[in-house]
Amino acid sequence: MDNGPGEAASTGGSIVTRALITGITGQDGSYLAELLLSKGYEVHGVIRRASTFNTRRIDHLYVDRHERDVRFFMHYGDTADGTRLTSLLAQILPDEIYHLASQSHVRVSFDEPEYTSEITGLGTLRLLEGIRQTGLGCRFYQASSSEMFGSAPPPQNELTVFAPRSPYGISKLFAHWTARNYREAYGMYTANGILFNHESPRRGETFVTRKITRAVARIRAGLDDELWMGNIDAIRDWGYAPEYVEGMWRILQCDEPADYVLATGAGYSVREFLTLAFDHVGLDWQNYVRFDESYLRPTEVDVVIGDSTKASREIGWAPKVHTPELVRIMVDADIRALAEGASASIDRPALPGWYPATG
Ligand code: NAP
Ligand code: GDD
Repeated sequence: MDNGPGEAASTGGSIVTRALITGITGQDGSYLAELLLSKGYEVHGVIRRASTFNTRRIDHLYVDRHERDVRFFMHYGDTADGTRLTSLLAQILPDEIYHLASQSHVRVSFDEPEYTSEITGLGTLRLLEGIRQTGLGCRFYQASSSEMFGSAPPPQNELTVFAPRSPYGISKLFAHWTARNYREAYGMYTANGILFNHESPRRGETFVTRKITRAVARIRAGLDDELWMGNIDAIRDWGYAPEYVEGMWRILQCDEPADYVLATGAGYSVREFLTLAFDHVGLDWQNYVRFDESYLRPTEVDVVIGDSTKASREIGWAPKVHTPELVRIMVDADIRALAEGASASIDRPALPGWYPATG
């Protein structure tokens, strides 16, 4: 059975393309779900069972399944559980799968290397094997990462030799090569998006951009007076997440599966990000930022700057929002969220930092 995007499943007489998103509760999953719903897709998301609510980024999309014309469905599942993944595939019969679920924090991957390999690396294998065994003809997107480039000098593109420097990067590389192997060995439609850092007001609070923009909002409001940071010399290529999920969708619309780098092409240091964020509210970052070595990584990726020429040429993808504008979007959103109160915004921050030294 091959339900490619052009030959989608039929429900109630109308043609609907059916997507399965793992990691739907994350930053990218939430934006992607919005995008696909706006394109008329039927969207199925895999969520982890947790003792606390983990759906705050997608709560606004929820529709009671007893309503008419429901196109948004949630299923419990975990990338550690291959049996469940395979039964979900057989039940849902997706046309497109966006595999975004991952232990996605690089610093945490040094503390939990085995778990990270299990979830981020083997999780992809489990899903691909499930597709192969059920004989689905669906298209598969793998969320690969610029972290796989590690110490390879910039600019990095699809031809750059990978040199990962973290358990996370190594796990992503395993998943990346597994997706390619299933494409070559079994003729399956698998595509890797090698995405450079992309951020938004929905970014997890322990990634460096959001940690900074939240802190700026809180310092401005007089709620905090210091911000503890690790290596602020690291350089990243930061884009805007909603544009990157649109790129994911474009990657899966190609006739032939391929791998694409998505990036802005410009690098900024964490120090420059700090300057832009504090400047935006008229503060000097040097009065607030302190150094805490527990945020350092045993091996660091010093600089990643992407070259997305191939994506621009072949799928017409180009970012419009660059890092300075991204900083303004994120700082303004955190200021707004703070003013409205935590519960008023889907982009609201979680409780402040009791988390261990992870971000
Ligand atoms: P994120 O916000 O950390 O979201 C990760 C998602 O994976 C969450 O929905 C999380 O569920 C889910 N998840 C974690 N462990 C799972 C498990 N064992 N079983 C099922 N689901 C699990 O990450 P993101 O920023 O949206 O990134 C999406 C994907 O792109 C990730 O694979 C990430 O590694 C990759 N990536 C991200 C970037 C970036 O800059 N954002 C760049 C390159 C690649 P909970 O909500 O329950 O935790
Ligand atoms: N998190 C964090 N917290 N990072 C800090 C801090 C801090 O207090 N101080 C400095 N940094 C530096 C990190 O050492 C790193 O060099 C840089 O800021 C960015 O860190 P993160 O925001 O945690 O992102 P990342 O680049 O390690 O990983 C993200 O991007 C990858 C794409 O290359 C994650 O989203 C990954 O899932 C993604 O694949």
